[in-house]
Amino acid sequence: GRVLLAYSGGLDTSCILAWLIEEGYEVYAFMGDVGQEEDFVAAEKKALAVGAKKFFLADLKREFVEELIYPAVQANCIYENVYLLGTSLARPVIARGMIAIADKEGCDFVSHGCTGKGNDQVRFELAFYGLKPDIKVIAPWRIPEFYNRFAGRGHLLAYAAEKQIPVQQTAAKPWSTDENLFHISYEAGILEDPNTTPPADMWKLTASPESAPETPEQISIEFKRGIPVKVTAGGKDTTDAVEVFLTLNALARKHGIGRIDIVENRFIGVKSRGCYESPAATILRVAHMDLEGLTLDRNVRSLRDQFVTVELSRILYNGHFFTPEREFVTSAIPASQRTVNGVVRLKLYKGNVVVEGRYSDEGLYDEKFSSMDELGGFEPTDTTGFIQIESIRIKKWAQANIRRGQA
Ligand code: ARG
Ligand code: SIN
Repeated sequence: GRVLLAYSGGLDTSCILAWLIEEGYEVYAFMGDVGQEEDFVAAEKKALAVGAKKFFLADLKREFVEELIYPAVQANCIYENVYLLGTSLARPVIARGMIAIADKEGCDFVSHGCTGKGNDQVRFELAFYGLKPDIKVIAPWRIPEFYNRFAGRGHLLAYAAEKQIPVQQTAAKPWSTDENLFHISYEAGILEDPNTTPPADMWKLTASPESAPETPEQISIEFKRGIPVKVTAGGKDTTDAVEVFLTLNALARKHGIGRIDIVENRFIGVKSRGCYESPAATILRVAHMDLEGLTLDRNVRSLRDQFVTVELSRILYNGHFFTPEREFVTSAIPASQRTVNGVVRLKLYKGNVVVEGRYSDEGLYDEKFSSMDELGGFEPTDTTGFIQIESIRIKKWAQANIRRGQA
């Protein structure tokens, strides 16, 4: 059979490539460009040298930003109150890119190098099945002949030597990463002790807040229907969707914004320590949530927070992107964002994103109406009635408490 392998250029997927060939498969290698810093030319050379019959590189950056990242920004998606979902967001576009090639090239099988303990195996495979139900998946790290033979890095290295797979001479970092234009993740290795402070040189996408400029930088972000459509910084406007994101990444990097360190609950139930840098996403979250304060109806906001934000975050994390519930939940996003139009002014300073002001033409906020110094819109005596009615059950409850206390 012919198998399309999600290839990273690293040791694991290079050994998987060689092993699949040994098992009798014809292997095509696939890489998705989701904005990771990567030498794709070198990776292609390596895949072909190891024995891949063909190599495919798909540029997925624009669909990643427009179809995955921006809806997550509009819905303020976040997992367990901290993680902005950078890896989860990239998986659907990578899986879709793979299935497109598998269809075109007649691959009956797809394969990946995810471990049997993580989220990514679930995300990839549920996405494959959600797009092409008859696809067959080969997950070597869950196949006993593979994982028993390659238990431990030593066996992989020996196999690589045997198969003449070049192994990077640069000292391996004692953790594993996953990078795209939204974020980078660091897990495993020395980070598995949750009380080990990450070494300063681990962080790759942001300056440390300590070394960030002493001078704050003021920027503004314009949103239309909850989507960032313009960034103004240093007297320069940026409007293209991908460029907006990259511009904010550069600003956040410079000012040390977007580092996090958490212990999270993986879908399969194990706890895992992870460190992340999500530079642009951290700025966008602050700005978008602020503009919603000015422009979003209270009850829409409350329903959205309890339903869309919570459910979509869980759906993304658990790899349920190509599902009816994801379609249902995301269909509510445009309706919630119709009024989220306006500009947020921010100050970036040593790891902080500080809101300095915001404006909008939406008209839900009315300075005069909200003012404590003016009457307007309704009679102060109306509020007396409002409070009296609201207090009916509270008074009853208080009386019952007092009676119980006396008994
Ligand atoms: N814990 C994060 C998540 O589940 C990051 C996963 C990183 N994946 C990887 N293959 N290194 O989204
Ligand atoms: C892996 O297990 O392959 C990476 C981590 C994860 O998917 O959660």
